[in-house]
Amino acid sequence: MKKIGIGIIGGGLMGREMASAFARWCALMDVEVQPELVAVADLVEDVRNWFRRIPSCTQITGDYHELLANPAVDVVYVAVPHNLHEKIYCDVLAAGKDLFAEKPFGMDLASARRIAEAAQASGLFVRCSSEFPFLPGAQRVMQHVKEGTLGRILEVVAAFHHSSDLDASKPANWKRKSATCGEIGVLGDLGMHACHIPLRLGWRPQRLFAQLQKGYPQRPDGRGGMADCDTWDNALLHCWTQIGGHAVPLRLEMKRMAPGETNTWYIEVLGTEGGVRYTTKEPKTLWLFENGKEQFWKKTDLGFCMPFKTVTGGIFEPGFPDIIQQMWAAYLMEREGLLGGRCGCATVEEAVATQEIFAAALASHELGVVQAL
Ligand SMILES: NC(=O)c1ccc[n+]([C@@H]2O[C@H](COP(=O)([O-])OP(=O)(O)OC[C@H]3O[C@@H](n4cnc5c(N)ncnc54)[C@H](O)[C@@H]3O)[C@@H](O)[C@H]2O)c1
Repeated sequence: MKKIGIGIIGGGLMGREMASAFARWCALMDVEVQPELVAVADLVEDVRNWFRRIPSCTQITGDYHELLANPAVDVVYVAVPHNLHEKIYCDVLAAGKDLFAEKPFGMDLASARRIAEAAQASGLFVRCSSEFPFLPGAQRVMQHVKEGTLGRILEVVAAFHHSSDLDASKPANWKRKSATCGEIGVLGDLGMHACHIPLRLGWRPQRLFAQLQKGYPQRPDGRGGMADCDTWDNALLHCWTQIGGHAVPLRLEMKRMAPGETNTWYIEVLGTEGGVRYTTKEPKTLWLFENGKEQFWKKTDLGFCMPFKTVTGGIFEPGFPDIIQQMWAAYLMEREGLLGGRCGCATVEEAVATQEIFAAALASHELGVVQAL
């Protein structure tokens, strides 16, 4: 396998998740490339120290500019607070490195557009992290839509629900403050996950009405005091899109206060002839609707049917670490021109399109009107 040197900027929650996906790369059967984590940059010493368990990671630094100067780094993955996206993504591109960047590509639409301009001018390979389309159930949803067996599409729902913000004792962090998460709040935090498949299927919202809600205005600051929290926590976007020449309702839901939902990603497409539904609540189960004299919802267990084959037995259940690894396989194989017909990672255009949706949602909510995009 061809080795690709990876540098990680931001070794927190997602930085470590990516590192563990590389460490388990032997599970993949049909890829011609192998990521090798060679460098990490993080401001926090404890965070940096975790990476000492990875023998190939020989550069561990508090200054990401040192990582960018390392000739062994081919691709940089960046997972930092949203207020740092634009500066660090543009620095990665200026250093001539390919970029795999976390969503939402900056604090707002203007920031995402500047990142997109820098990416286009650089000619480098740039994609945005979004792992849920790599689930077997999500792949099947897209397949059923593309096969055209659903008839006229009547309605689409795409949702991503968390409940952690219902816990009022949870300390504030950068994701709960507009200064670091962006005014878009939960839209930037969870929105790419809800929007990615509709956008990939060509279902761009044309008009939308947004309902946004805030969570607790203060949370413990972790030092014995309280910190202000001002971001939107829940967002319901009631959109119109065009599918097959018809105006179709598309509901995009992003929630950090959804009772009982730890990390529930959900998509449903209903048509006159058929329907398809998948949720991570039942990670191996696909639901299919059949129209007829009698109407049926039938379900099947999909097992471990991944876009990139692995050693894992076909009857086993897929999970979050698996789709993170599949997403990296897609990034690295597409970078080599070897993606074939498989689903690629979110593009720069898709990342900008999500920010267009978020900007319209803020405007709609503020004015209480339907907003055109
Ligand atoms: N794809 C997903 O499923 C998913 C899930 C969670 C978060 N994210 C995204 O990942 C990104 C990071 O989120 P997270 O949850 O990992 O955050 P985190 O707070 O756990 O980690 C961020 C890390 O960045 C480091 N950092 C801050 N400034 C830095 C700098 N100047 N140089 C180097 N390191 C710096 C911090 O010390 C911290 O360790 C965000 O864009 C977020 O939206 C994506």
